[in-house]
Amino acid sequence: MPEANLMDKLVALCKRRGFIFQSSEIYGGIGGFWDYGPLGVELKRNVKEAWWRDMVTGHDDTTVQSGAPREYEMCGLDCSIIMHPQIWKCSGHYDLFHDMMVDCRTDGCKARFRADQLKSSECPLKPSKHPGEHDKCSLTEPREFNLMFETYIGALRDEENKSFLRPETAQGIFANFKNVCDSSRVKVPFGIAQIGKSFRNEITPKNFTFRSREFEQMEIEFFCKPAESRQWYTYWRDRRFAWYTSLGMKTEKLRLRDHAAEELSHYSCGTADIEYAFPFLEAGDYGELEGVAHRGDFDLRSHMEGKLVKDAAGNLVVDRGPDGKPKYAGSGKDLSYFDDEAKERFVPHVIEPSAGADRGTLAFLCEAYCEDAIPDEKGAAQPRTVMKLHPRLAPIKAAILPLVKRDGMPEIAADMYRSLKKHWNVFYDEKGAIGRRYRRQDEAGTPFCITVDGQTLNDQTVTIRDRDSCKQWRIKIDEIADEIRKRLSA
Ligand code: GAP
Repeated sequence: MPEANLMDKLVALCKRRGFIFQSSEIYGGIGGFWDYGPLGVELKRNVKEAWWRDMVTGHDDTTVQSGAPREYEMCGLDCSIIMHPQIWKCSGHYDLFHDMMVDCRTDGCKARFRADQLKSSECPLKPSKHPGEHDKCSLTEPREFNLMFETYIGALRDEENKSFLRPETAQGIFANFKNVCDSSRVKVPFGIAQIGKSFRNEITPKNFTFRSREFEQMEIEFFCKPAESRQWYTYWRDRRFAWYTSLGMKTEKLRLRDHAAEELSHYSCGTADIEYAFPFLEAGDYGELEGVAHRGDFDLRSHMEGKLVKDAAGNLVVDRGPDGKPKYAGSGKDLSYFDDEAKERFVPHVIEPSAGADRGTLAFLCEAYCEDAIPDEKGAAQPRTVMKLHPRLAPIKAAILPLVKRDGMPEIAADMYRSLKKHWNVFYDEKGAIGRRYRRQDEAGTPFCITVDGQTLNDQTVTIRDRDSCKQWRIKIDEIADEIRKRLSA
């Protein structure tokens, strides 16, 4: 199937089956905002829960992880979306978090484009051309456009009360570094994780949820000794790459790409992106799923001393105005760390694996989409669409289906449904032909269908059908929960 076609089919399935809807659709929609439907909300929760479990609560703080320089601890945070505006001045976002944009002055167009994407953008005028290619196109010079959404705190809408919706969750972690150290006795090296909404006023949101204006991030700020930071950087690149493959992403669709020096963000002294071959891209192209950045001591020092810039020798120094005062003053709080064992004080370096929950969810959806054919009751091949989601991510873990609506089958199935519902999100369906019910669950990505049939009444066994192979086997009703548990964790 051509990949572009696949994307159209996936978007249609997401709407038809309730994974993802356009936000405010009844009013014509709003660009760059998306809503998750009944299946999508479960899928995205499962992506976030798998991340939190695998990175935070499931991390064994007492053991040395494979490849890690030495043991480390993990903990979590949940910070406010609106923070003190000085945070964004010291972090560099106020001055530097912008894209270059170009406007078209032509009546009937008046469109806005990212200056670096003119060749891949489409002018709204017909026939379809790139911006600037019609005779009547009149593009402005590129101008800076800050991506932070502005808001006002309190009743007065003046400069004093202006604040921002956070464009990344990371800064809340840096601002709380001292609080976490003082309250939880963690020792460097350790990581603080956060999942939460971020907002960017993207000039051209596009490719379904890939580039949105409101999205969720799953970020870790990992604090370590400066001398060990390179090793930890390598460790986190590999660990995060492996996380995607552990949830079913094929390695041939994933790659780790090191940023070239000119591509690095203002805070980074080394970044590698984990990229996925999204179907809306040209063959051979990849899109960013997650960035793993070596942020050095940029952030903690900025929040202590004031916004930093690189001097001619490449050293980070406080950005000062003509009067010698910091352009943006830091908090003045001491965010250094004292190592009791080594008896030394230092500002920890930071490794940051920063993933997008929505981009991850989109990539898992793309990876799962599959069309094949399965034999029906008479052996004839029936085409089906199946979402081969990893069982940990599947919105519904099992569907409970009485074969017919009589002979006590619905009652047995409903009992089973109620008992399994205590453990997982399961679904009860007694409507329609069994083949159609299986195919509806295939589209929802449900890994197991459990059918109560005539034989159940005699021997208390049911069939389990595996979504991917369509194989069926019988099992005793009282062994179902163990069987599902075993298969979900396999
Ligand atoms: N704290 C570092 C940081 O925010 P980033 O590369 O700008 O780094 C990290 O963002 C991740 O957040 C990206 O890899 C992507 O998954 C997600 N992300 C960023 N902008 C996004 C957008 N406009 N829409 C959806 N996801 C986005």
